[in-house]
Amino acid sequence: MNRVECWRAVTPQARNWHFRIRHRVFVEEQRVIPITDLDDRDRDLSTIHVVAGRGSAAVGTVRLYRTDGAGRWKGDRLAVLAGHRAGMVGARLVRFAVATAAAAGGDVMDAIVQVQNVTFFERLGWDRAGPLIAYHGLPHQPMTFRLADARTLDESDIPDDACLRLPAARHAPSPLIEAVT
Ligand SMILES: CC(C)(COP(=O)(O)OP(=O)(O)OC[C@H]1O[C@@H](n2cnc3c(N)ncnc32)[C@H](O)[C@@H]1OP(=O)(O)O)[C@@H](O)C(=O)NCCC(=O)NCCS
Repeated sequence: MNRVECWRAVTPQARNWHFRIRHRVFVEEQRVIPITDLDDRDRDLSTIHVVAGRGSAAVGTVRLYRTDGAGRWKGDRLAVLAGHRAGMVGARLVRFAVATAAAAGGDVMDAIVQVQNVTFFERLGWDRAGPLIAYHGLPHQPMTFRLADARTLDESDIPDDACLRLPAARHAPSPLIEAVT
């Protein structure tokens, strides 16, 4: 099986892959967020959008950003396309997110985690942080990660010859996605 690579989605094409993957997972598949999962964080130039690729396919996303000026970060929009799960893409994305925040001088990363994924995060070294809360009407577990425990960042730009493609979707992309890409 091809190695999983993670990159910051800095080009318009990579951002487009990022937004389309999120839309397929959170809006079309899980339906946890109606219509669009885009928000003001996506328009903030300091937000870091990440794409995971395996072989020639763009298959996963995560997003991260600072939440204060004192070392606190948040990670969200962790998504792996159905059909590409259970292949360590999600774990690689989480490790990339915490390594990126640690390299930027962060101390702690927070996440609001769907209850069925709490064990997945615990196995990656995350701790529960308080009681369940409602998020988009569903129970979620606040969790934290001490960024001192992050591995060193293994980061590179998407190479020009990467030839990534987005696997075929069942649905046409929402026009709302085009509005921010
Ligand atoms: C949750 C998600 C990101 C996991 O990604 P993935 O690529 O399938 O996970 P990985 O293959 O990296 O999993 C790493 C390990 O955790 C396990 N694992 C994966 N999902 C798990 C879960 N929900 N609960 C417990 N263990 C899990 C895997 O079996 C694997 O175990 P192994 O090391 O023994 O082989 C993916 O299932 C997904 O995108 N789900 C839909 C969107 C979603 O729920 N996003 C997160 C919102 S909080």
